[in-house]
Amino acid sequence: MELNESLSIKEIYQKVNEDPESLDGLEIEIGGFVKNNRSSKAVGFLSVNDGSCFDNLQIVYDGQNEKISAIRLGCSIKAKGKLHVTISAPQPIELQADEINLVGSVSEDFPLQKKKTSFEYLRTIPQWRMKTNTFNAVFRVRSTLAYYIHQYFHEHGYYWIHTPILTANDCEGEGQTFNVYADYKHPEEFFKKDNVHLTVSGQLHVEPFALTYGKTYTFGPTFRAEKSNTIRHAAEFWMIEPEVSWAHLDDIEDIMEDFLKYIVKHTVEECASDIAFFEKRIDTNLAARLDEFINKPFKRVKYEEAIKILQEAQKNGHKFEVSDIKFGLDLGSEHEKYLTEVYYKGPIFLTDYPKEIKAFYMKQNPDNKTVGAVDLLVPFIGELCGGSEREVDYDKLLNRMNELKMNIPAYQWYLDLRKNGSIPHSGFGLGFERLVMLVTGMSNIRDTLPYPRCYKDMMF
Ligand code: 4AD
Ligand code: MG
Repeated sequence: MELNESLSIKEIYQKVNEDPESLDGLEIEIGGFVKNNRSSKAVGFLSVNDGSCFDNLQIVYDGQNEKISAIRLGCSIKAKGKLHVTISAPQPIELQADEINLVGSVSEDFPLQKKKTSFEYLRTIPQWRMKTNTFNAVFRVRSTLAYYIHQYFHEHGYYWIHTPILTANDCEGEGQTFNVYADYKHPEEFFKKDNVHLTVSGQLHVEPFALTYGKTYTFGPTFRAEKSNTIRHAAEFWMIEPEVSWAHLDDIEDIMEDFLKYIVKHTVEECASDIAFFEKRIDTNLAARLDEFINKPFKRVKYEEAIKILQEAQKNGHKFEVSDIKFGLDLGSEHEKYLTEVYYKGPIFLTDYPKEIKAFYMKQNPDNKTVGAVDLLVPFIGELCGGSEREVDYDKLLNRMNELKMNIPAYQWYLDLRKNGSIPHSGFGLGFERLVMLVTGMSNIRDTLPYPRCYKDMMF
Protein backbone atom coordinates (compact mmCIF):
# COMPACT_ATOMS: atom_id res chain seq x y z
CA MET A 1 0.00 0.00 0.00
CA GLU A 2 1.62 3.19 -1.14
CA LEU A 3 -0.64 5.73 0.54
CA ASN A 4 -1.26 4.15 3.91
CA GLU A 5 0.01 7.12 5.88
CA SER A 6 -2.43 9.46 4.23
CA LEU A 7 -5.96 10.72 4.74
CA SER A 8 -8.74 10.17 2.22
CA ILE A 9 -10.62 13.24 0.97
CA LYS A 10 -13.62 12.07 2.97
CA GLU A 11 -11.57 12.00 6.16
CA ILE A 12 -10.15 15.43 5.39
CA TYR A 13 -13.64 16.96 5.02
CA GLN A 14 -14.83 15.23 8.19
CA LYS A 15 -11.93 16.72 10.08
CA VAL A 16 -12.51 20.19 8.64
CA ASN A 17 -15.83 20.17 10.48
CA GLU A 18 -14.66 18.51 13.67
CA ASP A 19 -11.15 19.77 14.28
CA PRO A 20 -9.89 22.22 11.63
CA GLU A 21 -6.78 23.21 13.59
CA SER A 22 -5.43 19.69 13.46
CA LEU A 23 -5.46 19.90 9.65
CA ASP A 24 -3.96 23.30 9.02
CA GLY A 25 -0.34 22.83 7.98
CA LEU A 26 -0.59 19.04 8.06
CA GLU A 27 1.64 17.39 5.49
CA ILE A 28 -0.14 14.70 3.47
CA GLU A 29 0.05 12.71 0.28
CA ILE A 30 -3.00 12.14 -1.85
CA GLY A 31 -3.78 10.07 -4.94
CA GLY A 32 -6.76 10.34 -7.26
CA PHE A 33 -8.06 11.26 -10.67
CA VAL A 34 -8.29 14.73 -12.08
CA LYS A 35 -11.73 16.26 -12.47
CA ASN A 36 -10.58 19.68 -13.53
CA ASN A 37 -7.39 21.69 -14.05
CA ARG A 38 -7.16 25.42 -14.59
CA SER A 39 -4.21 27.70 -14.31
CA SER A 40 -3.17 31.30 -14.79
CA LYS A 41 0.40 32.62 -14.83
CA ALA A 42 0.42 32.94 -11.07
CA VAL A 43 -1.42 29.93 -9.81
CA GLY A 44 -2.95 26.63 -10.89
CA PHE A 45 -5.79 24.59 -9.40
CA LEU A 46 -6.22 20.85 -9.83
CA SER A 47 -9.51 19.34 -8.65
CA VAL A 48 -8.94 15.76 -7.62
CA ASN A 49 -11.31 13.01 -6.57
CA ASP A 50 -10.17 9.87 -4.80
CA GLY A 51 -13.58 8.17 -4.77
CA SER A 52 -13.98 8.32 -0.99
CA CYS A 53 -16.74 10.93 -1.19
CA PHE A 54 -18.53 13.18 -3.66
CA ASP A 55 -16.40 16.24 -2.98
CA ASN A 56 -13.09 16.94 -4.69
CA LEU A 57 -9.94 18.29 -3.10
CA GLN A 58 -8.43 21.38 -4.63
CA ILE A 59 -4.68 21.23 -5.10
CA VAL A 60 -2.92 24.53 -5.57
CA TYR A 61 0.28 24.66 -7.62
CA ASP A 62 2.61 27.08 -9.32
CA GLY A 63 0.90 28.25 -12.53
CA GLN A 64 4.27 28.52 -14.28
CA ASN A 65 4.70 24.75 -14.11
CA GLU A 66 3.82 23.74 -17.67
CA LYS A 67 3.96 20.03 -17.04
CA ILE A 68 1.31 20.26 -14.34
CA SER A 69 -0.82 22.78 -16.26
CA ALA A 70 -0.97 20.26 -19.08
CA ILE A 71 -2.54 17.51 -16.92
CA ARG A 72 -6.01 16.79 -18.27
CA LEU A 73 -9.32 15.52 -16.98
CA GLY A 74 -9.12 11.77 -16.42
CA CYS A 75 -5.41 11.60 -15.54
CA SER A 76 -4.39 9.98 -12.26
CA ILE A 77 -1.98 11.88 -10.08
CA LYS A 78 -0.25 11.72 -6.75
CA ALA A 79 0.44 14.90 -4.81
CA LYS A 80 2.32 15.81 -1.66
CA GLY A 81 2.04 19.02 0.28
CA LYS A 82 0.56 20.89 3.22
CA LEU A 83 -3.15 21.35 3.90
CA HIS A 84 -4.31 24.93 4.22
CA VAL A 85 -7.57 25.68 6.07
CA THR A 86 -9.67 28.85 5.56
CA ILE A 87 -13.00 28.02 7.15
CA SER A 88 -14.82 31.05 5.71
CA ALA A 89 -13.63 30.51 2.11
CA PRO A 90 -15.71 28.73 -0.56
CA GLN A 91 -12.93 26.11 -0.57
CA PRO A 92 -12.40 25.69 3.18
CA ILE A 93 -9.47 23.42 2.59
CA GLU A 94 -6.78 23.17 -0.09
CA LEU A 95 -3.60 21.25 -0.58
CA GLN A 96 -0.60 23.52 -1.29
CA ALA A 97 1.41 21.15 -3.45
CA ASP A 98 5.14 20.67 -3.04
CA GLU A 99 5.17 17.84 -5.53
CA ILE A 100 2.70 16.51 -8.11
CA ASN A 101 3.34 13.35 -10.12
CA LEU A 102 1.43 12.15 -13.10
CA VAL A 103 0.74 8.44 -12.49
CA GLY A 104 -1.62 7.62 -15.37
CA SER A 105 -1.99 9.86 -18.39
CA VAL A 106 -5.11 9.97 -20.52
CA SER A 107 -5.52 9.31 -24.23
CA GLU A 108 -7.04 11.71 -26.76
CA ASP A 109 -10.07 9.47 -27.19
CA PHE A 110 -10.93 9.23 -23.48
CA PRO A 111 -14.73 9.22 -23.66
CA LEU A 112 -15.44 11.49 -20.68
CA GLN A 113 -14.77 15.02 -21.74
CA LYS A 114 -15.93 18.24 -20.14
CA LYS A 115 -18.97 18.60 -22.37
CA LYS A 116 -22.17 17.17 -21.00
CA THR A 117 -22.77 13.56 -22.04
CA SER A 118 -26.20 11.89 -22.14
CA PHE A 119 -27.14 9.01 -19.86
CA GLU A 120 -27.88 6.97 -23.00
CA TYR A 121 -24.33 7.41 -24.20
CA LEU A 122 -22.89 6.71 -20.76
CA ARG A 123 -24.79 3.38 -20.68
CA THR A 124 -22.57 2.26 -23.54
CA ILE A 125 -19.45 2.85 -21.41
CA PRO A 126 -20.23 1.33 -17.99
CA GLN A 127 -16.49 0.93 -17.35
CA TRP A 128 -16.09 4.72 -17.33
CA ARG A 129 -19.34 6.27 -16.24
CA MET A 130 -18.68 5.88 -12.50
CA LYS A 131 -16.09 8.65 -12.94
CA THR A 132 -18.80 11.21 -13.76
CA ASN A 133 -20.38 13.17 -10.90
CA THR A 134 -23.78 11.57 -11.37
CA PHE A 135 -22.72 7.93 -11.45
CA ASN A 136 -20.03 8.43 -8.85
CA ALA A 137 -22.84 9.54 -6.53
CA VAL A 138 -25.28 6.80 -7.64
CA PHE A 139 -22.97 3.91 -6.80
CA ARG A 140 -21.93 5.47 -3.50
CA VAL A 141 -25.61 5.77 -2.52
CA ARG A 142 -26.19 2.18 -3.69
CA SER A 143 -23.38 0.87 -1.49
CA THR A 144 -24.53 2.93 1.49
CA LEU A 145 -28.11 1.66 1.18
CA ALA A 146 -26.83 -1.92 1.19
CA TYR A 147 -24.83 -1.21 4.33
CA TYR A 148 -27.85 0.18 6.23
CA ILE A 149 -30.05 -2.68 5.06
CA HIS A 150 -27.70 -5.13 6.75
CA GLN A 151 -27.40 -2.83 9.76
CA TYR A 152 -31.18 -2.62 10.19
CA PHE A 153 -31.59 -6.37 10.10
CA HIS A 154 -28.62 -6.95 12.37
CA GLU A 155 -29.93 -4.46 14.93
CA HIS A 156 -33.39 -6.03 14.81
CA GLY A 157 -32.27 -9.62 15.33
CA TYR A 158 -32.54 -11.00 11.79
CA TYR A 159 -30.21 -13.60 10.28
CA TRP A 160 -28.96 -13.26 6.71
CA ILE A 161 -29.55 -16.48 4.78
CA HIS A 162 -27.69 -17.05 1.51
CA THR A 163 -30.32 -18.66 -0.68
CA PRO A 164 -29.13 -20.28 -3.89
CA ILE A 165 -28.92 -18.72 -7.32
CA LEU A 166 -29.34 -22.06 -9.09
CA THR A 167 -32.72 -23.66 -8.40
CA ALA A 168 -35.27 -26.10 -9.80
CA ASN A 169 -38.27 -24.08 -8.49
CA ASP A 170 -40.03 -21.04 -9.93
CA CYS A 171 -41.18 -19.04 -6.92
CA GLU A 172 -43.42 -16.59 -8.74
CA GLY A 173 -44.75 -19.26 -11.11
CA GLU A 174 -44.57 -16.91 -14.08
CA GLY A 175 -42.33 -19.11 -16.20
CA GLN A 176 -39.95 -16.19 -16.74
CA THR A 177 -36.76 -18.00 -15.85
CA PHE A 178 -33.36 -18.24 -17.48
CA ASN A 179 -32.40 -21.88 -17.89
CA VAL A 180 -28.96 -23.13 -16.93
CA TYR A 181 -27.05 -25.80 -18.81
CA ALA A 182 -23.59 -27.15 -18.41
CA ASP A 183 -21.85 -26.18 -21.63
CA TYR A 184 -20.95 -29.71 -22.58
CA LYS A 185 -24.11 -31.69 -21.82
CA HIS A 186 -27.81 -31.58 -21.05
CA PRO A 187 -28.75 -30.15 -17.66
CA GLU A 188 -29.91 -33.41 -16.10
CA GLU A 189 -26.46 -34.87 -16.59
CA PHE A 190 -24.97 -32.36 -14.22
CA PHE A 191 -27.65 -31.82 -11.55
CA LYS A 192 -29.82 -34.83 -12.36
CA LYS A 193 -32.61 -32.30 -12.88
CA ASP A 194 -34.14 -31.27 -16.16
CA ASN A 195 -35.20 -27.74 -15.25
CA VAL A 196 -32.42 -25.89 -13.48
CA HIS A 197 -32.59 -22.12 -13.77
CA LEU A 198 -31.47 -18.87 -12.20
CA THR A 199 -33.60 -17.90 -9.23
CA VAL A 200 -36.40 -15.32 -9.54
CA SER A 201 -36.65 -15.00 -5.74
CA GLY A 202 -35.08 -16.52 -2.62
CA GLN A 203 -38.41 -16.71 -0.80
CA LEU A 204 -39.20 -20.42 -1.02
CA HIS A 205 -35.71 -21.34 0.12
CA VAL A 206 -35.66 -18.84 2.99
CA GLU A 207 -39.00 -19.91 4.45
CA PRO A 208 -37.65 -23.01 6.27
CA PHE A 209 -34.97 -20.80 7.82
CA ALA A 210 -37.58 -18.25 8.94
CA LEU A 211 -39.55 -21.08 10.53
CA THR A 212 -36.43 -21.96 12.53
CA TYR A 213 -34.63 -18.68 13.21
CA GLY A 214 -37.73 -16.48 13.49
CA LYS A 215 -36.44 -13.44 11.64
CA THR A 216 -34.45 -13.93 8.44
CA TYR A 217 -33.69 -12.15 5.19
CA THR A 218 -32.01 -12.74 1.86
CA PHE A 219 -30.06 -10.16 -0.12
CA GLY A 220 -28.80 -11.25 -3.49
CA PRO A 221 -29.14 -11.17 -7.26
CA THR A 222 -32.32 -12.42 -8.91
CA PHE A 223 -33.06 -13.00 -12.57
CA ARG A 224 -36.19 -12.63 -14.66
CA ALA A 225 -36.58 -13.29 -18.36
CA GLU A 226 -39.42 -10.78 -18.64
CA LYS A 227 -39.64 -9.24 -22.08
CA SER A 228 -40.24 -5.83 -20.51
CA ASN A 229 -38.33 -3.02 -22.06
CA THR A 230 -39.24 -0.42 -19.45
CA ILE A 231 -37.43 2.01 -17.20
CA ARG A 232 -38.11 -0.16 -14.13
CA HIS A 233 -37.41 -3.73 -15.29
CA ALA A 234 -34.03 -5.43 -15.36
CA ALA A 235 -33.22 -9.04 -16.23
CA GLU A 236 -30.69 -9.16 -13.39
CA PHE A 237 -31.55 -7.21 -10.27
CA TRP A 238 -30.99 -7.48 -6.53
CA MET A 239 -33.70 -8.28 -4.07
CA ILE A 240 -33.96 -8.06 -0.30
CA GLU A 241 -36.46 -10.53 1.13
CA PRO A 242 -37.25 -10.50 4.85
CA GLU A 243 -39.25 -13.52 6.05
CA VAL A 244 -40.64 -13.47 9.58
CA SER A 245 -42.27 -16.14 11.76
CA TRP A 246 -45.49 -15.25 13.60
CA ALA A 247 -45.95 -12.15 11.43
CA HIS A 248 -49.33 -11.58 9.81
CA LEU A 249 -50.07 -9.22 6.94
CA ASP A 250 -50.35 -6.05 9.03
CA ASP A 251 -47.14 -6.93 10.90
CA ILE A 252 -45.18 -7.28 7.68
CA GLU A 253 -46.54 -3.88 6.55
CA ASP A 254 -45.30 -2.36 9.82
CA ILE A 255 -41.89 -3.97 9.33
CA MET A 256 -41.67 -2.81 5.70
CA GLU A 257 -42.46 0.77 6.66
CA ASP A 258 -40.08 0.89 9.63
CA PHE A 259 -37.29 -0.76 7.61
CA LEU A 260 -37.63 1.52 4.56
CA LYS A 261 -37.78 4.69 6.63
CA TYR A 262 -34.70 3.64 8.58
CA ILE A 263 -32.53 2.83 5.58
CA VAL A 264 -33.57 5.90 3.59
CA LYS A 265 -33.07 8.22 6.59
CA HIS A 266 -29.58 6.93 7.36
CA THR A 267 -28.49 6.95 3.73
CA VAL A 268 -29.77 10.48 3.10
CA GLU A 269 -27.88 11.69 6.17
CA GLU A 270 -24.66 9.93 5.29
CA CYS A 271 -24.73 10.78 1.58
CA ALA A 272 -25.77 14.41 2.06
CA SER A 273 -23.40 15.75 -0.65
CA ASP A 274 -24.58 13.16 -3.16
CA ILE A 275 -28.25 13.89 -2.43
CA ALA A 276 -27.62 17.65 -2.71
CA PHE A 277 -26.11 17.02 -6.14
CA PHE A 278 -29.12 14.93 -7.27
CA GLU A 279 -31.45 17.63 -6.00
CA LYS A 280 -29.60 20.23 -8.09
CA ARG A 281 -29.11 18.22 -11.27
CA ILE A 282 -31.55 15.31 -11.43
CA ASP A 283 -34.73 16.03 -9.50
CA THR A 284 -35.42 19.42 -7.90
CA ASN A 285 -38.08 17.97 -5.63
CA LEU A 286 -35.98 15.09 -4.32
CA ALA A 287 -35.19 16.30 -0.80
CA ALA A 288 -38.82 17.20 -0.05
CA ARG A 289 -40.04 13.86 -1.38
CA LEU A 290 -37.51 11.89 0.66
CA ASP A 291 -38.36 13.93 3.73
CA GLU A 292 -42.03 13.01 3.32
CA PHE A 293 -41.12 9.39 2.68
CA ILE A 294 -39.21 9.26 5.96
CA ASN A 295 -41.67 11.20 8.10
CA LYS A 296 -45.22 10.64 6.83
CA PRO A 297 -47.04 7.36 7.56
CA PHE A 298 -47.81 5.31 4.43
CA LYS A 299 -51.53 5.02 3.64
CA ARG A 300 -53.09 1.54 3.74
CA VAL A 301 -55.70 0.77 1.10
CA LYS A 302 -57.51 -2.39 0.10
CA TYR A 303 -57.44 -3.40 -3.57
CA GLU A 304 -61.27 -3.21 -3.78
CA GLU A 305 -61.17 0.35 -2.47
CA ALA A 306 -58.53 1.24 -5.08
CA ILE A 307 -60.75 -0.13 -7.85
CA LYS A 308 -63.59 2.12 -6.65
CA ILE A 309 -61.26 5.14 -6.64
CA LEU A 310 -60.16 4.39 -10.21
CA GLN A 311 -63.77 3.89 -11.37
CA GLU A 312 -64.71 7.19 -9.77
CA ALA A 313 -61.79 8.94 -11.52
CA GLN A 314 -62.97 7.49 -14.80
CA LYS A 315 -66.50 8.74 -14.20
CA ASN A 316 -65.05 12.18 -13.60
CA GLY A 317 -63.33 12.12 -16.98
CA HIS A 318 -59.87 10.68 -16.23
CA LYS A 319 -58.71 8.64 -19.24
CA PHE A 320 -57.02 5.26 -18.71
CA GLU A 321 -55.67 3.29 -21.65
CA VAL A 322 -56.79 0.06 -20.02
CA SER A 323 -60.28 1.25 -19.22
CA ASP A 324 -62.11 -1.92 -18.20
CA ILE A 325 -61.62 -1.22 -14.52
CA LYS A 326 -63.23 -3.83 -12.31
CA PHE A 327 -62.37 -6.38 -9.63
CA GLY A 328 -59.77 -8.73 -11.10
CA LEU A 329 -57.84 -6.13 -13.07
CA ASP A 330 -54.07 -6.46 -12.74
CA LEU A 331 -53.25 -2.80 -12.18
CA GLY A 332 -51.00 -1.25 -14.79
CA SER A 333 -48.51 1.51 -14.31
CA GLU A 334 -51.11 4.16 -15.33
CA HIS A 335 -53.47 2.99 -12.55
CA GLU A 336 -50.69 2.87 -9.96
CA LYS A 337 -49.60 6.34 -11.04
CA TYR A 338 -53.08 7.73 -10.61
CA LEU A 339 -53.36 6.27 -7.10
CA THR A 340 -49.95 7.38 -5.83
CA GLU A 341 -49.32 10.60 -7.75
CA VAL A 342 -52.80 12.07 -8.18
CA TYR A 343 -55.09 10.62 -5.52
CA TYR A 344 -52.98 9.83 -2.45
CA LYS A 345 -49.91 11.90 -3.42
CA GLY A 346 -47.55 9.54 -1.63
CA PRO A 347 -46.65 5.89 -1.02
CA ILE A 348 -49.50 3.46 -0.36
CA PHE A 349 -49.80 -0.12 0.80
CA LEU A 350 -52.29 -1.85 -1.46
CA THR A 351 -53.58 -5.06 0.12
CA ASP A 352 -55.91 -8.00 -0.37
CA TYR A 353 -55.63 -8.53 -4.12
CA PRO A 354 -57.73 -11.02 -6.12
CA LYS A 355 -56.07 -14.42 -5.82
CA GLU A 356 -56.06 -14.90 -9.61
CA ILE A 357 -53.45 -12.18 -10.15
CA LYS A 358 -51.13 -13.20 -7.31
CA ALA A 359 -48.68 -16.04 -6.58
CA PHE A 360 -49.71 -19.50 -5.34
CA TYR A 361 -48.15 -19.22 -1.87
CA MET A 362 -50.22 -16.29 -0.60
CA LYS A 363 -52.65 -16.74 2.30
CA GLN A 364 -56.20 -17.26 1.11
CA ASN A 365 -58.65 -14.88 2.78
CA PRO A 366 -61.97 -16.20 4.18
CA ASP A 367 -63.86 -14.43 1.34
CA ASN A 368 -62.40 -17.05 -1.04
CA LYS A 369 -61.59 -14.45 -3.66
CA THR A 370 -58.71 -12.38 -2.24
CA VAL A 371 -55.32 -13.18 -0.73
CA GLY A 372 -53.30 -11.54 2.05
CA ALA A 373 -50.97 -9.77 -0.33
CA VAL A 374 -49.40 -6.34 -0.06
CA ASP A 375 -47.67 -4.18 -2.67
CA LEU A 376 -45.99 -0.94 -1.70
CA LEU A 377 -46.64 1.54 -4.49
CA VAL A 378 -44.60 4.72 -4.65
CA PRO A 379 -44.96 7.84 -6.86
CA PHE A 380 -42.74 7.76 -9.99
CA ILE A 381 -41.38 4.30 -9.13
CA GLY A 382 -44.49 2.12 -9.08
CA GLU A 383 -44.15 -1.15 -7.17
CA LEU A 384 -41.24 -0.92 -4.75
CA CYS A 385 -42.05 -4.00 -2.63
CA GLY A 386 -44.32 -7.01 -2.99
CA GLY A 387 -45.14 -9.39 -0.19
CA SER A 388 -47.76 -11.43 1.61
CA GLU A 389 -48.75 -13.58 4.51
CA ARG A 390 -48.02 -17.18 3.48
CA GLU A 391 -50.66 -19.89 3.19
CA VAL A 392 -49.85 -22.37 5.95
CA ASP A 393 -52.83 -24.71 5.54
CA TYR A 394 -51.50 -27.75 3.72
CA ASP A 395 -54.75 -28.60 1.92
CA LYS A 396 -55.57 -25.06 0.87
CA LEU A 397 -52.06 -24.60 -0.51
CA LEU A 398 -52.15 -27.93 -2.34
CA ASN A 399 -55.55 -27.09 -3.85
CA ARG A 400 -54.31 -23.77 -5.15
CA MET A 401 -51.20 -25.41 -6.63
CA ASN A 402 -53.38 -27.98 -8.36
CA GLU A 403 -55.65 -25.24 -9.71
CA LEU A 404 -52.55 -23.64 -11.19
CA LYS A 405 -51.42 -27.03 -12.60
CA MET A 406 -48.09 -26.79 -10.83
CA ASN A 407 -45.69 -29.70 -10.77
CA ILE A 408 -46.45 -30.84 -7.20
CA PRO A 409 -43.53 -33.27 -6.72
CA ALA A 410 -41.07 -30.44 -7.40
CA TYR A 411 -42.61 -28.45 -4.53
CA GLN A 412 -43.34 -31.30 -2.11
CA TRP A 413 -40.45 -30.19 0.11
CA TYR A 414 -42.12 -26.75 0.38
CA LEU A 415 -45.58 -28.20 1.04
CA ASP A 416 -44.16 -30.39 3.81
CA LEU A 417 -43.13 -27.27 5.75
CA ARG A 418 -46.87 -26.96 6.46
CA LYS A 419 -46.94 -30.40 8.05
CA ASN A 420 -44.12 -30.26 10.59
CA GLY A 421 -44.07 -27.55 13.22
CA SER A 422 -45.73 -25.04 10.96
CA ILE A 423 -45.88 -21.41 12.11
CA PRO A 424 -47.76 -18.46 10.58
CA HIS A 425 -45.28 -16.31 8.67
CA SER A 426 -45.04 -13.44 6.23
CA GLY A 427 -42.46 -11.72 4.10
CA PHE A 428 -41.83 -9.34 1.26
CA GLY A 429 -39.34 -8.56 -1.49
CA LEU A 430 -37.78 -5.13 -2.02
CA GLY A 431 -36.40 -4.40 -5.48
CA PHE A 432 -33.01 -2.89 -4.65
CA GLU A 433 -32.59 -0.91 -7.88
CA ARG A 434 -36.04 0.66 -7.50
CA LEU A 435 -34.95 1.76 -4.04
CA VAL A 436 -31.81 3.33 -5.54
CA MET A 437 -34.06 5.12 -8.08
CA LEU A 438 -36.20 6.43 -5.22
CA VAL A 439 -33.26 7.79 -3.23
CA THR A 440 -31.28 9.28 -6.14
CA GLY A 441 -34.12 10.48 -8.36
CA MET A 442 -32.60 8.59 -11.31
CA SER A 443 -35.48 7.68 -13.59
CA ASN A 444 -34.10 4.65 -15.44
CA ILE A 445 -33.20 1.39 -13.70
CA ARG A 446 -30.25 1.05 -16.13
CA ASP A 447 -28.66 3.98 -14.34
CA THR A 448 -28.72 2.31 -10.92
CA LEU A 449 -26.95 -0.94 -11.86
CA PRO A 450 -23.15 -1.03 -12.22
CA TYR A 451 -23.51 -3.22 -15.33
CA PRO A 452 -27.18 -3.30 -16.36
CA ARG A 453 -28.63 -6.43 -17.95
CA CYS A 454 -31.98 -5.58 -19.48
CA TYR A 455 -34.18 -6.93 -22.26
CA LYS A 456 -32.22 -6.58 -25.53
CA ASP A 457 -29.77 -4.39 -23.70
CA MET A 458 -26.49 -5.54 -22.22
CA MET A 459 -22.96 -4.35 -22.89
CA PHE A 460 -20.28 -6.79 -21.79
O1 4AD B 1 -43.29 -8.72 -6.39
P1 4AD B 1 -42.18 -9.71 -6.61
O2 4AD B 1 -42.23 -10.53 -7.83
O3 4AD B 1 -42.18 -10.60 -5.29
C1 4AD B 1 -41.43 -11.73 -5.07
O4 4AD B 1 -40.56 -12.15 -5.78
C2 4AD B 1 -41.72 -12.34 -3.74
N1 4AD B 1 -41.24 -13.72 -3.77
C3 4AD B 1 -41.07 -11.51 -2.66
C4 4AD B 1 -41.31 -12.06 -1.28
O5 4AD B 1 -42.43 -12.02 -0.82
N2 4AD B 1 -40.27 -12.56 -0.63
O6 4AD B 1 -40.78 -8.94 -6.58
C5 4AD B 1 -40.40 -8.17 -5.46
C6 4AD B 1 -39.89 -6.81 -5.90
C7 4AD B 1 -40.88 -5.98 -6.69
O7 4AD B 1 -41.76 -5.29 -5.84
C8 4AD B 1 -39.96 -5.05 -7.46
O8 4AD B 1 -39.55 -3.96 -6.65
C9 4AD B 1 -38.75 -5.92 -7.72
O9 4AD B 1 -38.79 -6.99 -6.79
N3 4AD B 1 -38.75 -6.45 -9.08
C10 4AD B 1 -37.96 -6.00 -10.07
N4 4AD B 1 -37.02 -5.04 -10.08
C11 4AD B 1 -36.36 -4.83 -11.22
N5 4AD B 1 -36.57 -5.53 -12.37
C12 4AD B 1 -37.50 -6.50 -12.41
N6 4AD B 1 -37.69 -7.20 -13.53
C13 4AD B 1 -38.24 -6.78 -11.21
N7 4AD B 1 -39.21 -7.65 -10.89
C14 4AD B 1 -39.51 -7.44 -9.59
MG1 MG C 1 -44.95 -8.04 -7.35
